Amino acid sequence: MATKRILTGMRPTGALHLGHYVGALKQWLALQDEYECFFLIADVQALTTHVDRPRVIEESVREVVLDWLGVGLDPTKPNVCFVLQSSLPELTELTAYFTMLVPFTKMEHNPTIRAELKDLKKSATAGFMIYPISQAADILLFSPYPPEKSDKLLVPVGEDQVPHLEETNQIARRFNALYGKTFLECKPEVGEIGRLPGVDGKSKMSKSLGNAIQLKDGPDTVSKLVSKMFTDPKKLHRDDPGHPQRCPVYLYHRAFSTSQMFRGRATKCKTGRLGCVECKKELADILNNFLEPIRTRRAEAEKAPLDTYLRQGTEKAREIGQNMMKVIRHAMHLDYPSVKSSLTKGG
Ligand code: TRP
Repeated sequence: MATKRILTGMRPTGALHLGHYVGALKQWLALQDEYECFFLIADVQALTTHVDRPRVIEESVREVVLDWLGVGLDPTKPNVCFVLQSSLPELTELTAYFTMLVPFTKMEHNPTIRAELKDLKKSATAGFMIYPISQAADILLFSPYPPEKSDKLLVPVGEDQVPHLEETNQIARRFNALYGKTFLECKPEVGEIGRLPGVDGKSKMSKSLGNAIQLKDGPDTVSKLVSKMFTDPKKLHRDDPGHPQRCPVYLYHRAFSTSQMFRGRATKCKTGRLGCVECKKELADILNNFLEPIRTRRAEAEKAPLDTYLRQGTEKAREIGQNMMKVIRHAMHLDYPSVKSSLTKGG
């Protein structure tokens, strides 16, 4: 039977927010019934920006697991694994091999790396510059083997991750060309809204930019954040014609309203029959209704055996990873059968 697998992940650098939901978690949820799922807590990748803040990473591992459970990911299903990246030494080994397949100067051309370099207040470390290579290892370690045409390796992510997946597939092709067909190319799966702006309407939602609505925020916080949101600067009064396509509040409505609630909103805004204050109040209600069951499940999850979920998921991932590393070492001629057998013969 065809193997249908997902490998995807998030960095534990804080609690998750609506941007994570729209860009990634929504897709993950839709796929968890159908696919063998490996959801990676990328704590090693988190070191690329947080090497001086280990406690933030530690707390965030817990926060991320709680948020995942809150939205409804279910590690009690046999096909759903939560995996802790640092507990998979195979990833470190594969990253080392993959670094040899990528020209050194190429990393700084990656558009996501370029954008992140701008935000980075300190200078970038070597580890930061090559994290897309380690992300390729995260993904390809889970490539179904032997790769059959009907197999799938899906990576549901936000659109900023797509350059990393292109890099991953270039590495897969290079490896296959050098050592024989070993890896399947992965397929990005980007949601309808790949990227949600922050409440400031400027950049993408991000906790470090202080423009995020977190999944665990309470109703008052959500209402307050929404009331301060930026809207179309040309619409000062209710009856001014608005430009919904340029308004972040409208984009949030598009992401979170039911189609019934969404219908007619743009026309009402454009024709001056809907004011921003009212539109934001409605949005706050919609978001609070959406977040309510997540908050409840998250609170229940506080009592759940998080460590067991992580251990079991990681063990299953390791089994796959260890087998795959044997295949990879063999393909790369790193298992040295001639040397090893003569060593054995010699006693
Ligand atoms: N770069 C991803 C993020 O920001 C996290 C990540 C690590 C990942 N390894 C991955 C995503 C593998 C998809 C596949 O947050």
